[in-house]
Amino acid sequence: MKIHLDTKCLPRHIAVIMDGNGRWARRRGLPRVEGHREGMNSVRSIIQTCGEIGVSYLTLYAFSTENWKRPRGEIRFLMKLLVEYFKREISELHGRGVRIRMLGRREPIPAGVLTSIDNAVRLTRDNRGLNLNLAFNYGGRREILDAVDTWLQMKPRPGLTEEIFSRVLYTGGIPDPDLLIRTSGEYRISNFLLWQLAYAEIVVSPVLWPAFRRPELMQVLAEYQRRERRFGGVRPVHA
Ligand code: FPP
Repeated sequence: MKIHLDTKCLPRHIAVIMDGNGRWARRRGLPRVEGHREGMNSVRSIIQTCGEIGVSYLTLYAFSTENWKRPRGEIRFLMKLLVEYFKREISELHGRGVRIRMLGRREPIPAGVLTSIDNAVRLTRDNRGLNLNLAFNYGGRREILDAVDTWLQMKPRPGLTEEIFSRVLYTGGIPDPDLLIRTSGEYRISNFLLWQLAYAEIVVSPVLWPAFRRPELMQVLAEYQRRERRFGGVRPVHA
């Protein structure tokens, strides 16, 4: 079935909780990490599609502050996967004008992984295409506490506003997500963008992340366009 989207009502910023890699692998009798490997192909497909249809910001939850509790081998695999991803794809991403940012704490990401992220961020800093934010070693509560620390260091006067606070978050200068997608049928926020998701539409897809590609994204976008966004008011508003 062909899906027709209204290009004037696309979300400006999509955030994604890429869930279900482990289940995808287990259902095929494979080790969990194979789900992460296949999940990379979904990452590629979703980045490409967002760039093509004119989404401005895409934020992917690639590694949370809670993910350090996973088995050591899986953590090592995920770190290596990110480095390999940049090694293989950075020139193509750069060529397509993608600008990469990292959202999260640097500590305790291994130095080699940080170098690879830093190089990608530096190389693509002046690009004007899709803004790709990688939430890596990211935790929403940690981000809020870090923002409070940053704000206090600015020796502030009383009268903190939402605008000022938004500026000291990791996402300072980036508009809030209009749409949060979570794959694999789970209804949880999982410590992701707690402040920024205040008014986001949430769409949960039953599809596991490694199987979530362009057609599945189109379906979610069609669902988004059927929603009314009122921001607490009475008239529908679309991004
Ligand atoms: C959740 O699935 C997924 C993750 C914790 C990692 C997501 C990482 C990738 C898709 C690849 C790396 C991405 C980039 C951008 C380089 P899960 O393992 O919790 O699945 P389960 O709930 O089925 O166990």
